[in-house]
Amino acid sequence: MSNEKVAETFDRWVEDGRDEGLEKGHGNVVRQVIEKMQIAPGEKVLDLGCGTGWATRLIAKANAGVQAIGVDASPRMIAKADELHSFTIRARYDFCSFEALDFKDGEFDRIFSMEALYYTTDLDKTLSEAFRVLKPGGTSEILLDYYEESPASADWGEVMGLKLQRLTEAGWKRAFEKAGFQAVSTSRVVDSRGPGDRESFERDECEPNWDAKVALHEAGTLWVHAEKT
Ligand SMILES: C[S@@+](CC[C@H](N)C(=O)[O-])C[C@H]1O[C@@H](n2cnc3c(N)ncnc32)[C@H](O)[C@@H]1O
Repeated sequence: MSNEKVAETFDRWVEDGRDEGLEKGHGNVVRQVIEKMQIAPGEKVLDLGCGTGWATRLIAKANAGVQAIGVDASPRMIAKADELHSFTIRARYDFCSFEALDFKDGEFDRIFSMEALYYTTDLDKTLSEAFRVLKPGGTSEILLDYYEESPASADWGEVMGLKLQRLTEAGWKRAFEKAGFQAVSTSRVVDSRGPGDRESFERDECEPNWDAKVALHEAGTLWVHAEKT
């Protein structure tokens, strides 16, 4: 299976307006992590699977002179990111796949990614590309809601018709270490707003009922931190 199917899926999300819920759903966790990243002035940050680029723009605003570049395999996500762009910040959105990053070795101080890496069709290649474009001394912060210890996400690949990378927390750690990363650690980030309330809950294919929504919330987002020494 190639990226084409993934790109078509996320192009359709934009056509159906589903992209508009992404910041609402992921925003709290992403803001918690960006704050903890303590991005320094002038750092260059790569956002893998930027979608419409809302997190890329938050990163660009994290400190003076920060440059943020988002990449995504969905042309419609990139077009929407361009539409939503603010010209007061240093951000850019490139049509590019994780498995073949169009950047020089050691170009980035930081890598960030929210809910995107498990869609890759070649995890080893993706992680070795991430390692290549990171500077020595750089860090990578990857966030994932789809992982083995979160059972309520188990059928997402099936319902989306995609072959997703389903790894345990320890499996993600091993995959990063295999790519050359060091000081790899994992933790969970829980949305501080709670699961929401049952009355206003709206189902979708990944959260088919209230119990699934609560279980996903309680499991939290898996945060994989890794360093290139
Ligand atoms: C669930 S969306 C998350 C988007 C954004 N990070 C957010 O939180 O709103 C996953 C994104 O990853 C992108 N993606 C998945 N696999 C990719 C790949 N191999 N190369 C580049 N982008 C990819 C998809 O096109 C999609 O826009």
